[in-house]
Amino acid sequence: MPATLKSAADIAGMRIAGRLASEVLDYITPYVVPGVTTGELDRLCHEYMVNVQGTIPAPLNYAPHGYKPFPKSICTSVNHQVCHGIPGTRVLKSGDVVNLDITVIKDGWHGDTSRMFHVGESSIAARRLSEITYECMWLGILAIRPGGFLGDIGAAIQPHAERNGYSVVREFCGHGIGKRFHEDPQILHYGKAGTLERLVPGMIFTVEPMINAGRREIREMADGWTIVTKDHSLSAQWEHTVLVTPTGFEVLTVSAGSPPPPAFVTSPSVAADGVTPAAAGNAAPAAPPAGIVVA
Ligand code: MF3
Ligand code: CO
Ligand code: CO
Repeated sequence: MPATLKSAADIAGMRIAGRLASEVLDYITPYVVPGVTTGELDRLCHEYMVNVQGTIPAPLNYAPHGYKPFPKSICTSVNHQVCHGIPGTRVLKSGDVVNLDITVIKDGWHGDTSRMFHVGESSIAARRLSEITYECMWLGILAIRPGGFLGDIGAAIQPHAERNGYSVVREFCGHGIGKRFHEDPQILHYGKAGTLERLVPGMIFTVEPMINAGRREIREMADGWTIVTKDHSLSAQWEHTVLVTPTGFEVLTVSAGSPPPPAFVTSPSVAADGVTPAAAGNAAPAAPPAGIVVA
């Protein structure tokens, strides 16, 4: 199925949902410290969403075909967990690295975003993986323009991961989003430029690469949700919800606490690890800061 196109009114709703999702991550940041449990992070986020924001946590009881209902309000994926980690009694310790993935519903619209958090003192290896994964997400976002192709996104992401010795998870991808959590189209984080569906203004979808420090193969845990790397190598993920505009893109999941985009986004003369976005398949003349429409 092709993507549903959002109207101006739909986009206004999605901007609000996107900002609120990002604000949950801002709120929870100071609590991600050694000694906290993933269940406590979930409880704090749930209370903030429901009682402060008046949003609905989309993961709670979410049950796509073939899955049992997700039992918590956020996803917490620690170390070699790739995605969909279920919050619980696990105590975070110094050196852990955790992805917190937040999806809120406001006035029927979904905002979906995730960030990596380093607990206490993190290893150089974990920091490098998180940083390269963040660059991968932004290289994918920079490839978005009307008239371009869905395949351009994965084509920008995959080489950056692989030239750093990492691998791209294939089984999970970005997705269209709107009134429903997961809509068409699928957004692959690997592949070939100039392939798949044409990008059209009004499309809204997520870019959320999962990058493994080791091999790309994954395994599902017995809880029916948590995905881990088969070789137990570290995995990282970042996620934004993005609108295709008439001139480029607009990142919807931004808030006061959003980490700044990499330097190659704001100053086009700066290369990402020796490779410019242009060389990675992106030809945008000047890349925009987050949340700003590309002129
Ligand atoms: N937020 C995840 C995504 O980015 C989906 C989580 S589904 C859940 O698509 F049920 F695990 F919450
Ligand atoms: Co998503
Ligand atoms: Co998500």
